[in-house]
Amino acid sequence: METANILNPFVVGRYVSDRFFCDRQKETEFLIKQIKNGRNVALISPRRMGKTGLIQHCFNQEQFREYYHTFFVDIYATTSLAEFAYLLGKAIYDELKPKRTVWTERFFQIIRSLRVGFKLDTMTGEPSFDIGLGDIRAPQTTLDEIFEYLEAADKPCLVAIDEFQQIGSYEEKNVEALLRTKIQQCKQTMFIFSGSKQHLMSNLFNSSSKPFYQSAISMGLEPIPMEIYTTFAIRLFEERGKQVEPILVEKVYQQFNGCTWFVQMIMNELFALTAKDECCDTSKLDTAWKNVIQTQEGSYKDLLSRLAPKQKLVLQAIAKEGDARGVTSSAFIKKYNLPSASSVQSALKPLLKTGLVTQEGDAYRVYDYFFADWLANEY
Ligand SMILES: Nc1ncnc2c1ncn2[C@@H]1O[C@H](COP(=O)(O)OP(=O)(O)OP(=O)(O)O)[C@@H](O)[C@H]1O
Ligand SMILES: [Mg+2]
Repeated sequence: METANILNPFVVGRYVSDRFFCDRQKETEFLIKQIKNGRNVALISPRRMGKTGLIQHCFNQEQFREYYHTFFVDIYATTSLAEFAYLLGKAIYDELKPKRTVWTERFFQIIRSLRVGFKLDTMTGEPSFDIGLGDIRAPQTTLDEIFEYLEAADKPCLVAIDEFQQIGSYEEKNVEALLRTKIQQCKQTMFIFSGSKQHLMSNLFNSSSKPFYQSAISMGLEPIPMEIYTTFAIRLFEERGKQVEPILVEKVYQQFNGCTWFVQMIMNELFALTAKDECCDTSKLDTAWKNVIQTQEGSYKDLLSRLAPKQKLVLQAIAKEGDARGVTSSAFIKKYNLPSASSVQSALKPLLKTGLVTQEGDAYRVYDYFFADWLANEY
């Protein structure tokens, strides 16, 4: 069994099963209820709060597993409709590959434009999907065929499109209107649209001039309540013959305002640092932080290398400040030797756009707590 082999129960970066997934009961019920009643859902929350996890958790529940074909596609890296069609087609194919039914066998029969990618393995005789992006010549046709295929399924389909806000930046015009029309025509295919760029997502779904206006039920995702997370963490330690001080879990939770990914990362490391029969206490926290930052260092350097020099300056200044207010004031500029108020302003724009920096009221902070620590203390 998959779950028995999990050595560290604080799973990060993927979904395993109910046992390793904390709470989200109300959210799960809500989401399932919407879909079952024929309403598409727009799931909008800050980064790393648990949107993808929640979708996968819902997919894993009996109500979805048994009665729907579920598909998950992450379009974060896409920049065109062709890529969208490519990834959607691939996600559907990969999901259905192990299932041999009359419907799944019709994949290339209905999605004719992807037939170029249909290959039979010369050794095993197994079919495979070997198309490249360049093979998507007419993305609209491919999409039409994909939707036609989904609608011809033997049970309803549920498609989750992660980082959906991305469609707003596609090179083609009218993508929103086009997708909206296709989605509206579906009779037995439902959609979950999720995204972390909150203003872009809200703009897509809540602004009356946009095609997707009111076409989905919006739902947000708050941090998991602290008591519930603490109980969860204690259980995971105890099940493996270890212990953890509740006050430590609470401290970790508070350090990250309950944002799931960060909390799970530290708890994962704390668990690793704790021997069998040992009780993990606050003395391990510093080491855990350092270790986590060490594992991320490569990607931080990579990230920095892609920023303009002025953006780096401003990013580090904000990291050192923590909650940075008055970033264009002469005091702030002097304190961090920044060139000028206008250069701070122009550097901030892309930092906010990419989500490296977030803004709450007049305060800015580096969104990734570990990255902020590394920038402020080690870089
Ligand atoms: N309820 C939960 N219990 C335990 N771990 C969780 C839970 N929800 C999410 N996680 C873990 O936290 C991490 C962040 O969650 P997830 O990737 O779902 O967030 P996200 O909102 O989709 O983030 P992003 O905006 O970066 O895509 C994941 O690694 C996941 O394993
Ligand atoms: Mg996600």
